[in-house]
Amino acid sequence: MLMLIVTMSLPAASAHEAHRKDMSDAEIAEMKQAAETGHDGGIEVPAAGGNGSSATDGVMSTDSHNEMMDEHLEGLAFSPTDFLGRLHPALVHFPIALFLAAGLAELILFARPASGLEPTVRFLIYTGAGGGVIATVLGWLAGGIRMFDRSETLGLHRWTGTSIAVAGVVAAILVHRAKSDRSLLRIVIAGIAAALLFQGYWGAEMSMGPNHMGM
Ligand code: HEM
Repeated sequence: MLMLIVTMSLPAASAHEAHRKDMSDAEIAEMKQAAETGHDGGIEVPAAGGNGSSATDGVMSTDSHNEMMDEHLEGLAFSPTDFLGRLHPALVHFPIALFLAAGLAELILFARPASGLEPTVRFLIYTGAGGGVIATVLGWLAGGIRMFDRSETLGLHRWTGTSIAVAGVVAAILVHRAKSDRSLLRIVIAGIAAALLFQGYWGAEMSMGPNHMGM
């Protein structure tokens, strides 16, 4: 006798939850693909009654039902840290824009020392550094607090982002002390700008899916 399998659809976990739960890139891609084709999240629930067909076929056990309800309610419960983590994508625009603008202003200053852009660079680096630290703290809440990630993209993004925050603070100290020689400051700003390009790419790979640029 065939066992009746009842497949129930659960709401697909969002990419945000997937990263918090330390899923690997392959598992996330599989989950997304399955969600798109409508076969995701299906859990096979063997009907009660063993191998034989019975009146209870197709009826979910109370335990399974309770388990599902618990998971559902857990998802609905408000968590301040989860909420803050969800603000990460909104906050990341500040360090990206401010540091890249600082790099441009410093480039103009390099080409035209009389342009008087020193206070502009200082302001952009101070605010960029503040934004970088906040974005990084929220990033750790978004991605889950751990040292090693099963997702390679998340691992690269986590540690590049954390390094950008540290380098931003270093740049703020350097620009605060900068007198005539700005070479070290320029190297740090150039490094931050380059790292931000990769950082933004990896971030969008996680939010929008692999190969989001279609390259
Ligand atoms: C300066 C630091 C950082 C910048 C500029 C940055 C930038 C970004 C960007 C551009 C996105 C894509 C947002 C979107 O498409 O809407 C993103 C997503 C994400 N970032 Fe960051 N990030 C930073 C630090 C971090 C850190 C330290 C972590 C820690 C794990 C992290 C975890 C995440 C996660 C998990 C996502 C996917 C969206 C989500 O699950 O909420 N980020 N980030």
